[in-house]
Amino acid sequence: MDNYNPAKMLEFSERGDERGNLVVVEGAIDVPFEIKRIFYIYGSDKDVIRGKHANRESEFVLVNVAGTSKIKVMDGKGNEKVYALTRPRTGIYLPKMVWKEMYDFSEDSVLLCLASTHYDGSEYIREYDEFVRIINGEAR
Ligand code: TYD
Repeated sequence: MDNYNPAKMLEFSERGDERGNLVVVEGAIDVPFEIKRIFYIYGSDKDVIRGKHANRESEFVLVNVAGTSKIKVMDGKGNEKVYALTRPRTGIYLPKMVWKEMYDFSEDSVLLCLASTHYDGSEYIREYDEFVRIINGEAR
């Protein structure tokens, strides 16, 4: 499907002035959920692929606050889309139950992740085959 577009790009407000830039991200205002957790990924080599999971519960917003990376989102039915994160004021909203892979990290990449949940490893689906079975209703 050419128009598969599971994620949503978000433009955050910029409150910079002559002293420099300031980007504000408020839970349930600038992102579509209350923020329960933040984590950030940096120091990943260019050939590393991170993520490779889907989440039953968690929604995320990802922002490259420095550097750049790419994220591939897949629906488990053969559709996929690649998004590039290239600016500190642009985020990408990822709904629950999509497969995601982060890769092509620039050397200076700092990928900030905002999550709607506290960490619970049991809501992560880490096997792609299992994700496809769940999507197709063949597993729970
Ligand atoms: P992982 O989800 O594989 O990272 P990524 O999706 O960025 O590739 O997480 C790596 C490890 O860190 C794994 O053992 C789980 C742990 N972890 C937490 O304990 N809390 C968290 O919020 C996250 C995101 C990971």
